[in-house]
Amino acid sequence: MRRLLRANLIILLILPVIFAIQSYAAEPLKPDNLEIQRGQFIAEHGSFLSPAWKGETWERLKATSKPLPDEVLNSKPVSQNDQALIRYGLHPAPFSNNNLPMGLRPAWTRDGRMKGLQIDCLLCHGGSIAGKSYVGLGNSTLDMVTFLNAMTRAENRPPPILTFNLNSSRGTVNAGQLSIVLFSLRNTDLSFVTVPLKLESNLPEQDVPAWWNIARKSTIYIDGRTSGESSRSIMQFYLPELTEDQFASYEPAFKDLLAYIRDLKPPKYPFPIDRAKADEGQQIFEKTCSKCHGTYGENSSYPDQVIDLSVIGTDPARAKGVSDKSIDHYNATWFGKVHAVDKTVPLGYQAPPLDGVWATAPYLHNGSVPTVYDLLNSSGRPARFLRHATTGVENFDPLHLGWKVRRLKPEDPVKFKDSFQTRSIFDNSRYGLGNQGHTFGDRLTEAQRFQVIEYLKTL
Ligand code: HEC
Ligand code: HEC
Repeated sequence: MRRLLRANLIILLILPVIFAIQSYAAEPLKPDNLEIQRGQFIAEHGSFLSPAWKGETWERLKATSKPLPDEVLNSKPVSQNDQALIRYGLHPAPFSNNNLPMGLRPAWTRDGRMKGLQIDCLLCHGGSIAGKSYVGLGNSTLDMVTFLNAMTRAENRPPPILTFNLNSSRGTVNAGQLSIVLFSLRNTDLSFVTVPLKLESNLPEQDVPAWWNIARKSTIYIDGRTSGESSRSIMQFYLPELTEDQFASYEPAFKDLLAYIRDLKPPKYPFPIDRAKADEGQQIFEKTCSKCHGTYGENSSYPDQVIDLSVIGTDPARAKGVSDKSIDHYNATWFGKVHAVDKTVPLGYQAPPLDGVWATAPYLHNGSVPTVYDLLNSSGRPARFLRHATTGVENFDPLHLGWKVRRLKPEDPVKFKDSFQTRSIFDNSRYGLGNQGHTFGDRLTEAQRFQVIEYLKTL
Protein backbone atom coordinates (compact mmCIF):
# COMPACT_ATOMS: atom_id res chain seq x y z
CA MET A 1 0.00 0.00 0.00
CA ARG A 2 2.89 2.35 0.69
CA ARG A 3 3.80 1.93 -2.99
CA LEU A 4 0.29 2.93 -3.87
CA LEU A 5 0.77 6.40 -2.54
CA ARG A 6 4.36 6.84 -3.51
CA ALA A 7 3.78 9.29 -6.34
CA ASN A 8 1.47 11.40 -4.24
CA LEU A 9 3.79 11.44 -1.29
CA ILE A 10 6.66 12.57 -3.45
CA ILE A 11 4.57 15.50 -4.65
CA LEU A 12 3.55 16.26 -1.08
CA LEU A 13 7.16 16.37 -0.05
CA ILE A 14 8.06 18.60 -2.98
CA LEU A 15 5.13 20.99 -2.53
CA PRO A 16 6.56 22.83 0.48
CA VAL A 17 9.77 23.32 -1.48
CA ILE A 18 7.88 24.81 -4.44
CA PHE A 19 5.95 27.12 -2.17
CA ALA A 20 9.10 28.05 -0.30
CA ILE A 21 10.70 29.08 -3.59
CA GLN A 22 7.62 31.01 -4.69
CA SER A 23 7.40 32.80 -1.39
CA TYR A 24 10.93 34.05 -1.83
CA ALA A 25 9.75 36.32 -4.62
CA ALA A 26 6.29 37.13 -3.32
CA GLU A 27 4.92 37.48 0.19
CA PRO A 28 6.23 34.92 2.67
CA LEU A 29 3.71 32.14 3.24
CA LYS A 30 2.66 31.31 6.78
CA PRO A 31 3.13 27.66 7.79
CA ASP A 32 -0.64 27.22 8.02
CA ASN A 33 -0.88 28.23 4.37
CA LEU A 34 1.31 25.29 3.51
CA GLU A 35 -1.03 22.96 5.36
CA ILE A 36 -3.98 24.38 3.43
CA GLN A 37 -2.21 24.10 0.08
CA ARG A 38 -1.24 20.52 0.77
CA GLY A 39 -4.78 19.85 1.97
CA GLN A 40 -6.17 21.19 -1.30
CA PHE A 41 -3.86 18.86 -3.18
CA ILE A 42 -5.15 15.90 -1.15
CA ALA A 43 -8.76 17.00 -1.73
CA GLU A 44 -8.25 17.20 -5.49
CA HIS A 45 -5.72 14.45 -6.16
CA GLY A 46 -5.03 12.31 -3.07
CA SER A 47 -5.46 8.62 -3.80
CA PHE A 48 -5.46 6.10 -0.99
CA LEU A 49 -7.31 3.07 -2.35
CA SER A 50 -6.50 0.62 -5.13
CA PRO A 51 -8.54 0.85 -8.35
CA ALA A 52 -12.19 -0.18 -8.33
CA TRP A 53 -12.53 0.04 -12.12
CA LYS A 54 -10.38 0.08 -15.24
CA GLY A 55 -9.15 3.42 -16.56
CA GLU A 56 -11.48 3.43 -19.59
CA THR A 57 -14.69 2.41 -17.80
CA TRP A 58 -16.11 5.92 -17.39
CA GLU A 59 -15.67 6.55 -21.12
CA ARG A 60 -17.37 3.24 -21.86
CA LEU A 61 -20.24 4.00 -19.47
CA LYS A 62 -20.77 7.41 -21.08
CA ALA A 63 -20.87 5.90 -24.57
CA THR A 64 -23.46 3.30 -23.56
CA SER A 65 -25.66 5.41 -21.23
CA LYS A 66 -29.33 5.55 -22.19
CA PRO A 67 -30.48 9.03 -23.32
CA LEU A 68 -32.56 10.92 -20.74
CA PRO A 69 -36.30 11.39 -21.28
CA ASP A 70 -37.37 14.58 -23.09
CA GLU A 71 -39.25 15.99 -20.11
CA VAL A 72 -36.03 15.96 -18.09
CA LEU A 73 -34.08 17.88 -20.72
CA ASN A 74 -37.00 20.15 -21.71
CA SER A 75 -36.28 19.02 -25.28
CA LYS A 76 -32.98 20.90 -25.24
CA PRO A 77 -30.06 19.23 -27.07
CA VAL A 78 -27.63 17.89 -24.44
CA SER A 79 -24.37 16.12 -25.30
CA GLN A 80 -23.84 12.43 -24.50
CA ASN A 81 -21.23 13.47 -21.93
CA ASP A 82 -23.61 15.84 -20.12
CA GLN A 83 -26.45 13.31 -20.27
CA ALA A 84 -24.28 10.80 -18.43
CA LEU A 85 -23.30 13.44 -15.84
CA ILE A 86 -26.98 14.25 -15.27
CA ARG A 87 -28.08 10.60 -15.13
CA TYR A 88 -25.65 9.70 -12.34
CA GLY A 89 -25.66 13.15 -10.73
CA LEU A 90 -22.01 14.06 -11.34
CA HIS A 91 -20.44 17.47 -11.98
CA PRO A 92 -17.48 18.73 -14.04
CA ALA A 93 -14.36 19.16 -11.88
CA PRO A 94 -13.31 22.80 -11.26
CA PHE A 95 -9.66 21.62 -11.30
CA SER A 96 -7.66 19.52 -13.74
CA ASN A 97 -8.92 15.96 -13.29
CA ASN A 98 -7.84 13.87 -16.29
CA ASN A 99 -11.16 14.57 -18.08
CA LEU A 100 -13.01 12.82 -15.29
CA PRO A 101 -16.01 14.26 -13.44
CA MET A 102 -15.56 15.35 -9.83
CA GLY A 103 -15.61 12.34 -7.53
CA LEU A 104 -13.77 9.97 -9.86
CA ARG A 105 -9.98 9.97 -10.02
CA PRO A 106 -7.06 7.81 -11.08
CA ALA A 107 -6.03 5.15 -8.59
CA TRP A 108 -2.74 3.33 -8.34
CA THR A 109 -1.96 -0.31 -8.83
CA ARG A 110 -0.28 -2.19 -6.00
CA ASP A 111 3.06 -1.89 -7.78
CA GLY A 112 2.79 1.89 -7.96
CA ARG A 113 1.57 2.43 -11.55
CA MET A 114 -1.26 4.82 -12.23
CA LYS A 115 -4.04 2.57 -13.39
CA GLY A 116 -7.75 2.36 -12.99
CA LEU A 117 -10.32 4.58 -11.33
CA GLN A 118 -11.56 5.11 -7.81
CA ILE A 119 -14.13 7.34 -6.14
CA ASP A 120 -13.13 10.02 -3.65
CA CYS A 121 -14.60 12.49 -1.11
CA LEU A 122 -15.79 14.82 -3.88
CA LEU A 123 -18.28 12.29 -5.21
CA CYS A 124 -20.42 13.44 -2.27
CA HIS A 125 -18.63 16.68 -1.31
CA GLY A 126 -18.39 18.27 -4.77
CA GLY A 127 -21.39 19.88 -6.42
CA SER A 128 -22.44 22.57 -8.84
CA ILE A 129 -24.95 25.39 -8.89
CA ALA A 130 -25.95 27.91 -11.57
CA GLY A 131 -23.43 26.43 -13.98
CA LYS A 132 -20.40 26.42 -11.66
CA SER A 133 -18.77 23.54 -9.79
CA TYR A 134 -17.44 23.88 -6.27
CA VAL A 135 -15.28 21.65 -4.10
CA GLY A 136 -17.08 21.40 -0.77
CA LEU A 137 -20.62 21.99 -2.00
CA GLY A 138 -22.68 18.91 -1.13
CA ASN A 139 -23.67 16.93 -4.22
CA SER A 140 -27.46 17.37 -4.40
CA THR A 141 -27.98 15.20 -7.48
CA LEU A 142 -25.82 12.10 -6.94
CA ASP A 143 -27.44 8.68 -7.36
CA MET A 144 -24.57 6.81 -5.75
CA VAL A 145 -25.81 3.23 -5.90
CA THR A 146 -26.95 3.56 -9.53
CA PHE A 147 -23.58 5.07 -10.46
CA LEU A 148 -21.48 2.40 -8.69
CA ASN A 149 -23.59 -0.38 -10.17
CA ALA A 150 -23.45 1.10 -13.68
CA MET A 151 -19.64 1.41 -13.55
CA THR A 152 -19.31 -2.20 -12.42
CA ARG A 153 -21.82 -3.49 -15.01
CA ALA A 154 -19.93 -1.57 -17.71
CA GLU A 155 -17.09 -4.01 -16.98
CA ASN A 156 -19.50 -6.96 -17.28
CA ARG A 157 -19.18 -7.68 -13.59
CA PRO A 158 -22.17 -8.13 -11.28
CA PRO A 159 -22.55 -5.24 -8.81
CA PRO A 160 -21.88 -6.05 -5.15
CA ILE A 161 -24.89 -6.82 -2.95
CA LEU A 162 -25.20 -4.21 -0.20
CA THR A 163 -26.58 -5.17 3.20
CA PHE A 164 -28.06 -1.71 3.76
CA ASN A 165 -29.78 1.07 1.84
CA LEU A 166 -27.02 3.31 0.43
CA ASN A 167 -29.55 5.62 -1.22
CA SER A 168 -33.18 5.16 -2.17
CA SER A 169 -33.20 8.07 -4.62
CA ARG A 170 -30.97 10.76 -6.07
CA GLY A 171 -29.47 13.41 -3.81
CA THR A 172 -29.33 11.66 -0.47
CA VAL A 173 -26.72 9.15 0.65
CA ASN A 174 -26.26 6.91 3.67
CA ALA A 175 -22.64 7.70 4.48
CA GLY A 176 -23.31 7.05 8.17
CA GLN A 177 -24.46 3.46 7.83
CA LEU A 178 -21.67 2.86 5.30
CA SER A 179 -19.18 3.76 8.05
CA ILE A 180 -20.95 1.55 10.58
CA VAL A 181 -20.80 -1.40 8.18
CA LEU A 182 -17.09 -0.80 7.56
CA PHE A 183 -16.43 -0.70 11.32
CA SER A 184 -18.41 -3.91 11.78
CA LEU A 185 -15.74 -5.65 9.67
CA ARG A 186 -12.87 -4.59 11.95
CA ASN A 187 -11.91 -5.62 15.46
CA THR A 188 -10.83 -2.88 17.86
CA ASP A 189 -7.19 -3.39 16.81
CA LEU A 190 -8.43 -2.87 13.22
CA SER A 191 -7.69 -6.46 12.20
CA PHE A 192 -10.43 -7.91 9.98
CA VAL A 193 -13.17 -9.91 11.73
CA THR A 194 -14.20 -13.39 10.66
CA VAL A 195 -17.89 -12.74 11.38
CA PRO A 196 -19.28 -9.16 11.06
CA LEU A 197 -19.90 -7.51 14.46
CA LYS A 198 -23.47 -6.61 15.37
CA LEU A 199 -23.19 -2.88 16.09
CA GLU A 200 -26.96 -2.31 16.24
CA SER A 201 -27.02 1.06 14.47
CA ASN A 202 -29.56 1.94 11.81
CA LEU A 203 -28.71 5.25 10.19
CA PRO A 204 -30.78 6.88 7.45
CA GLU A 205 -29.84 8.59 4.19
CA GLN A 206 -28.77 12.21 4.49
CA ASP A 207 -28.24 15.37 2.50
CA VAL A 208 -24.50 16.12 2.21
CA PRO A 209 -23.61 19.28 4.19
CA ALA A 210 -21.37 22.02 2.76
CA TRP A 211 -17.75 21.65 3.83
CA TRP A 212 -17.37 25.39 4.50
CA ASN A 213 -19.78 25.02 7.43
CA ILE A 214 -17.18 23.42 9.68
CA ALA A 215 -15.16 26.66 9.84
CA ARG A 216 -17.40 27.98 12.62
CA LYS A 217 -18.21 24.72 14.37
CA SER A 218 -16.21 23.06 17.14
CA THR A 219 -17.58 19.66 16.12
CA ILE A 220 -18.27 17.85 12.85
CA TYR A 221 -21.43 15.95 11.83
CA ILE A 222 -25.00 17.01 12.53
CA ASP A 223 -25.21 15.36 15.97
CA GLY A 224 -22.34 17.46 17.35
CA ARG A 225 -20.60 14.53 19.04
CA THR A 226 -17.30 14.37 17.12
CA SER A 227 -14.54 16.92 17.67
CA GLY A 228 -13.90 19.26 14.74
CA GLU A 229 -10.19 18.50 15.24
CA SER A 230 -10.61 14.80 14.52
CA SER A 231 -8.59 14.21 11.38
CA ARG A 232 -8.98 10.50 12.12
CA SER A 233 -12.74 10.64 11.80
CA ILE A 234 -12.59 11.75 8.17
CA MET A 235 -10.46 8.69 7.29
CA GLN A 236 -13.29 6.19 7.90
CA PHE A 237 -13.95 5.55 4.21
CA TYR A 238 -10.50 3.99 3.84
CA LEU A 239 -11.47 1.13 6.17
CA PRO A 240 -12.01 -1.27 3.25
CA GLU A 241 -8.24 -1.44 2.72
CA LEU A 242 -5.87 0.40 5.05
CA THR A 243 -4.13 -1.18 8.05
CA GLU A 244 -3.71 0.64 11.37
CA ASP A 245 -0.07 1.46 10.49
CA GLN A 246 -1.13 2.90 7.16
CA PHE A 247 -3.85 4.97 8.80
CA ALA A 248 -1.27 6.35 11.21
CA SER A 249 1.21 7.16 8.45
CA TYR A 250 -1.42 8.98 6.33
CA GLU A 251 -2.89 10.94 9.24
CA PRO A 252 -0.72 14.05 8.63
CA ALA A 253 -2.21 14.24 5.11
CA PHE A 254 -5.71 14.23 6.59
CA LYS A 255 -4.76 16.93 9.11
CA ASP A 256 -3.84 19.05 6.09
CA LEU A 257 -7.09 18.10 4.34
CA LEU A 258 -9.06 19.17 7.41
CA ALA A 259 -7.16 22.48 7.51
CA TYR A 260 -8.10 23.03 3.85
CA ILE A 261 -11.77 22.15 4.48
CA ARG A 262 -11.82 24.51 7.45
CA ASP A 263 -10.46 27.31 5.25
CA LEU A 264 -13.08 26.97 2.45
CA LYS A 265 -15.34 29.98 1.86
CA PRO A 266 -18.90 29.77 0.55
CA PRO A 267 -19.64 31.11 -2.94
CA LYS A 268 -21.34 34.51 -3.16
CA TYR A 269 -24.98 34.76 -4.27
CA PRO A 270 -24.72 35.40 -8.04
CA PHE A 271 -28.06 37.17 -8.64
CA PRO A 272 -29.34 40.64 -7.62
CA ILE A 273 -30.19 41.26 -3.94
CA ASP A 274 -32.68 43.88 -2.69
CA ARG A 275 -30.54 45.48 0.06
CA ALA A 276 -33.36 47.38 1.80
CA LYS A 277 -35.45 44.22 2.06
CA ALA A 278 -32.40 42.27 3.24
CA ASP A 279 -31.78 44.83 6.02
CA GLU A 280 -35.33 44.33 7.27
CA GLY A 281 -34.80 40.60 7.07
CA GLN A 282 -31.62 40.91 9.15
CA GLN A 283 -33.56 42.47 12.05
CA ILE A 284 -36.12 39.66 12.00
CA PHE A 285 -33.35 37.07 11.71
CA GLU A 286 -31.43 38.48 14.66
CA LYS A 287 -34.60 38.44 16.80
CA THR A 288 -35.93 35.02 15.72
CA CYS A 289 -33.05 32.91 14.46
CA SER A 290 -29.68 34.17 15.78
CA LYS A 291 -29.89 32.51 19.17
CA CYS A 292 -29.35 29.20 17.36
CA HIS A 293 -27.73 30.20 14.04
CA GLY A 294 -25.54 33.12 15.18
CA THR A 295 -24.84 36.47 13.56
CA TYR A 296 -22.96 37.28 10.38
CA GLY A 297 -20.70 39.99 8.99
CA GLU A 298 -18.50 42.11 11.25
CA ASN A 299 -18.42 41.01 14.92
CA SER A 300 -20.15 37.78 13.97
CA SER A 301 -20.84 35.20 16.65
CA TYR A 302 -21.92 31.58 16.59
CA PRO A 303 -23.45 29.71 19.55
CA ASP A 304 -22.22 26.30 18.34
CA GLN A 305 -25.17 24.45 19.89
CA VAL A 306 -26.84 21.09 19.56
CA ILE A 307 -30.61 21.60 19.81
CA ASP A 308 -32.48 18.89 21.65
CA LEU A 309 -34.71 16.64 19.50
CA SER A 310 -37.75 17.75 21.53
CA VAL A 311 -37.12 21.38 20.52
CA ILE A 312 -36.02 21.00 16.92
CA GLY A 313 -38.59 18.29 16.10
CA THR A 314 -36.98 17.26 12.80
CA ASP A 315 -36.75 13.58 11.81
CA PRO A 316 -35.16 11.79 14.79
CA ALA A 317 -33.75 8.76 12.91
CA ARG A 318 -30.25 10.20 12.38
CA ALA A 319 -29.85 11.11 16.06
CA LYS A 320 -31.44 7.95 17.46
CA GLY A 321 -30.02 5.60 14.83
CA VAL A 322 -26.48 5.47 16.29
CA SER A 323 -26.20 2.83 19.01
CA ASP A 324 -23.98 3.24 22.08
CA LYS A 325 -22.44 -0.05 21.02
CA SER A 326 -21.13 1.45 17.75
CA ILE A 327 -19.79 4.49 19.58
CA ASP A 328 -18.01 2.31 22.15
CA HIS A 329 -16.54 0.23 19.33
CA TYR A 330 -15.34 3.33 17.43
CA ASN A 331 -13.87 4.82 20.61
CA ALA A 332 -11.94 1.61 21.35
CA THR A 333 -10.19 1.72 17.95
CA TRP A 334 -7.37 3.95 16.70
CA PHE A 335 -10.07 6.34 15.40
CA GLY A 336 -11.36 7.22 18.87
CA LYS A 337 -8.00 7.29 20.68
CA VAL A 338 -7.31 11.04 20.38
CA HIS A 339 -10.87 12.36 19.95
CA ALA A 340 -13.53 10.01 21.28
CA VAL A 341 -17.13 10.41 20.11
CA ASP A 342 -18.94 12.07 23.02
CA LYS A 343 -21.95 9.99 24.06
CA THR A 344 -22.99 12.52 26.70
CA VAL A 345 -24.16 15.15 24.18
CA PRO A 346 -27.99 15.09 24.35
CA LEU A 347 -29.69 13.64 21.27
CA GLY A 348 -30.38 16.42 18.82
CA TYR A 349 -29.03 18.32 15.83
CA GLN A 350 -26.49 21.12 15.59
CA ALA A 351 -27.95 24.40 14.29
CA PRO A 352 -25.59 24.87 11.34
CA PRO A 353 -23.98 28.18 10.39
CA LEU A 354 -25.93 29.59 7.43
CA ASP A 355 -22.98 30.95 5.43
CA GLY A 356 -23.62 30.29 1.73
CA VAL A 357 -27.01 28.78 2.60
CA TRP A 358 -28.42 29.98 -0.76
CA ALA A 359 -26.38 27.23 -2.44
CA THR A 360 -27.15 24.29 -0.15
CA ALA A 361 -30.78 23.36 -0.90
CA PRO A 362 -32.54 21.09 -0.22
CA TYR A 363 -32.61 21.88 3.48
CA LEU A 364 -32.39 20.06 6.81
CA HIS A 365 -29.99 17.21 7.49
CA ASN A 366 -32.08 14.88 5.35
CA GLY A 367 -32.72 17.25 2.44
CA SER A 368 -36.47 16.94 2.94
CA VAL A 369 -37.32 20.60 2.33
CA PRO A 370 -36.65 21.96 -1.20
CA THR A 371 -36.55 25.72 -0.44
CA VAL A 372 -35.99 28.12 2.48
CA TYR A 373 -39.54 29.38 1.94
CA ASP A 374 -40.86 25.84 2.63
CA LEU A 375 -38.61 25.67 5.67
CA LEU A 376 -40.17 28.87 7.03
CA ASN A 377 -43.74 27.71 6.36
CA SER A 378 -43.96 24.15 7.63
CA SER A 379 -47.56 23.48 6.59
CA GLY A 380 -46.76 23.89 2.87
CA ARG A 381 -43.83 21.46 2.66
CA PRO A 382 -44.30 18.84 -0.08
CA ALA A 383 -44.58 15.22 1.10
CA ARG A 384 -43.40 13.82 -2.23
CA PHE A 385 -41.58 15.65 -4.96
CA LEU A 386 -39.49 15.06 -8.08
CA ARG A 387 -36.03 16.43 -7.43
CA HIS A 388 -34.34 18.92 -9.76
CA ALA A 389 -32.67 17.06 -12.64
CA THR A 390 -29.83 19.53 -13.13
CA THR A 391 -28.23 22.26 -11.03
CA GLY A 392 -28.35 24.95 -13.72
CA VAL A 393 -30.13 28.31 -13.36
CA GLU A 394 -33.20 26.75 -15.02
CA ASN A 395 -33.84 24.74 -11.87
CA PHE A 396 -32.85 27.38 -9.30
CA ASP A 397 -35.64 29.28 -7.56
CA PRO A 398 -34.34 32.70 -6.39
CA LEU A 399 -37.76 33.73 -5.04
CA HIS A 400 -38.19 30.87 -2.56
CA LEU A 401 -34.43 30.22 -2.40
CA GLY A 402 -33.75 26.63 -3.32
CA TRP A 403 -34.51 24.10 -6.02
CA LYS A 404 -37.53 24.07 -8.28
CA VAL A 405 -39.11 20.69 -7.73
CA ARG A 406 -42.26 19.06 -9.11
CA ARG A 407 -44.66 18.47 -6.23
CA LEU A 408 -46.32 15.07 -6.53
CA LYS A 409 -49.93 14.47 -5.59
CA PRO A 410 -51.01 11.33 -3.73
CA GLU A 411 -52.50 9.96 -6.99
CA ASP A 412 -49.25 10.55 -8.93
CA PRO A 413 -47.28 7.39 -9.77
CA VAL A 414 -44.62 5.87 -7.52
CA LYS A 415 -42.84 4.70 -10.65
CA PHE A 416 -42.08 6.48 -13.93
CA LYS A 417 -41.15 5.07 -17.35
CA ASP A 418 -37.51 6.07 -17.04
CA SER A 419 -35.75 4.93 -13.88
CA PHE A 420 -34.03 8.35 -13.76
CA GLN A 421 -37.37 9.90 -12.83
CA THR A 422 -38.38 7.13 -10.46
CA ARG A 423 -35.04 7.64 -8.71
CA SER A 424 -35.75 11.38 -8.56
CA ILE A 425 -38.73 10.90 -6.23
CA PHE A 426 -38.10 12.25 -2.75
CA ASP A 427 -40.65 10.57 -0.48
CA ASN A 428 -40.80 11.91 3.05
CA SER A 429 -42.47 8.72 4.33
CA ARG A 430 -39.20 6.79 3.89
CA TYR A 431 -37.06 6.00 6.95
CA GLY A 432 -35.26 9.11 8.19
CA LEU A 433 -36.62 11.38 5.46
CA GLY A 434 -39.50 13.01 7.38
CA ASN A 435 -39.94 16.74 6.71
CA GLN A 436 -41.42 17.69 10.09
CA GLY A 437 -40.03 20.08 12.69
CA HIS A 438 -38.08 23.37 12.61
CA THR A 439 -41.31 25.37 12.83
CA PHE A 440 -39.61 28.63 13.83
CA GLY A 441 -40.78 30.44 10.68
CA ASP A 442 -44.46 29.58 11.05
CA ARG A 443 -45.29 32.68 13.06
CA LEU A 444 -43.69 35.06 10.55
CA THR A 445 -45.92 36.90 8.08
CA GLU A 446 -45.43 36.22 4.35
CA ALA A 447 -43.69 39.60 3.97
CA GLN A 448 -41.32 38.78 6.84
CA ARG A 449 -40.47 35.38 5.32
CA PHE A 450 -39.41 37.03 2.07
CA GLN A 451 -37.38 39.61 4.01
CA VAL A 452 -35.54 36.85 5.88
CA ILE A 453 -34.94 35.04 2.57
CA GLU A 454 -33.48 38.23 1.08
CA TYR A 455 -31.15 38.53 4.08
CA LEU A 456 -30.03 34.90 3.81
CA LYS A 457 -28.89 35.61 0.23
CA THR A 458 -26.26 37.99 1.65
CA LEU A 459 -24.59 35.35 3.89
C1 HEC B 1 -20.84 8.66 0.37
C2 HEC B 1 -20.83 10.10 0.48
C3 HEC B 1 -19.69 10.70 1.24
C4 HEC B 1 -18.35 10.53 1.03
C5 HEC B 1 -17.67 9.66 0.00
C6 HEC B 1 -17.68 11.37 1.99
N1 HEC B 1 -18.60 12.03 2.76
FE1 HEC B 1 -18.20 13.39 4.21
N2 HEC B 1 -20.16 13.48 4.68
C7 HEC B 1 -21.18 12.82 4.02
C8 HEC B 1 -22.41 13.04 4.73
C9 HEC B 1 -23.78 12.49 4.35
C10 HEC B 1 -22.12 13.84 5.84
C11 HEC B 1 -23.07 14.30 6.94
C12 HEC B 1 -22.91 13.35 8.10
C13 HEC B 1 -23.63 13.80 9.35
O1 HEC B 1 -23.67 15.01 9.63
O2 HEC B 1 -24.16 12.95 10.05
C14 HEC B 1 -20.68 14.12 5.76
C15 HEC B 1 -20.00 14.92 6.67
C16 HEC B 1 -18.66 15.27 6.55
C17 HEC B 1 -17.99 16.26 7.36
C18 HEC B 1 -18.64 17.10 8.46
C19 HEC B 1 -19.46 18.25 7.89
C20 HEC B 1 -20.23 19.03 8.91
O3 HEC B 1 -20.91 19.98 8.53
O4 HEC B 1 -20.18 18.70 10.10
C21 HEC B 1 -16.68 16.29 6.96
C22 HEC B 1 -15.59 17.19 7.50
C23 HEC B 1 -16.54 15.32 5.90
N3 HEC B 1 -17.76 14.73 5.67
C24 HEC B 1 -15.36 15.04 5.25
C25 HEC B 1 -15.22 14.03 4.31
C26 HEC B 1 -13.97 13.62 3.73
C27 HEC B 1 -12.62 14.25 4.04
C28 HEC B 1 -14.23 12.61 2.86
C29 HEC B 1 -13.26 11.80 2.03
C30 HEC B 1 -12.23 11.15 2.77
C31 HEC B 1 -15.66 12.39 2.89
N4 HEC B 1 -16.22 13.25 3.79
C32 HEC B 1 -16.30 11.46 2.10
C33 HEC B 1 -21.03 12.07 2.87
C34 HEC B 1 -19.83 11.65 2.35
C1 HEC C 1 -34.08 26.64 18.53
C2 HEC C 1 -33.00 26.75 17.57
C3 HEC C 1 -33.32 27.24 16.18
C4 HEC C 1 -34.01 28.37 15.81
C5 HEC C 1 -34.68 29.41 16.69
C6 HEC C 1 -33.94 28.41 14.36
N1 HEC C 1 -33.26 27.33 13.87
FE1 HEC C 1 -32.84 26.95 11.96
N2 HEC C 1 -32.05 25.16 12.46
C7 HEC C 1 -31.88 24.71 13.75
C8 HEC C 1 -31.35 23.35 13.71
C9 HEC C 1 -31.01 22.49 14.92
C10 HEC C 1 -31.25 23.01 12.36
C11 HEC C 1 -30.81 21.65 11.79
C12 HEC C 1 -32.01 20.72 11.87
C13 HEC C 1 -31.91 19.48 11.03
O1 HEC C 1 -31.16 19.48 10.04
O2 HEC C 1 -32.62 18.52 11.33
C14 HEC C 1 -31.67 24.18 11.60
C15 HEC C 1 -31.66 24.25 10.21
C16 HEC C 1 -31.93 25.41 9.50
C17 HEC C 1 -31.73 25.55 8.08
C18 HEC C 1 -31.26 24.48 7.13
C19 HEC C 1 -29.79 24.50 6.94
C20 HEC C 1 -29.35 23.47 5.94
O3 HEC C 1 -28.33 23.71 5.28
O4 HEC C 1 -29.99 22.43 5.79
C21 HEC C 1 -32.07 26.85 7.75
C22 HEC C 1 -32.03 27.47 6.37
C23 HEC C 1 -32.50 27.49 8.97
N3 HEC C 1 -32.38 26.59 10.02
C24 HEC C 1 -32.96 28.78 9.05
C25 HEC C 1 -33.54 29.32 10.18
C26 HEC C 1 -34.21 30.60 10.22
C27 HEC C 1 -34.34 31.55 9.04
C28 HEC C 1 -34.67 30.77 11.49
C29 HEC C 1 -35.48 31.90 12.05
C30 HEC C 1 -36.75 32.13 11.43
C31 HEC C 1 -34.26 29.60 12.25
N4 HEC C 1 -33.59 28.74 11.43
C32 HEC C 1 -34.49 29.42 13.58
C33 HEC C 1 -32.16 25.40 14.90
C34 HEC C 1 -32.88 26.58 14.96
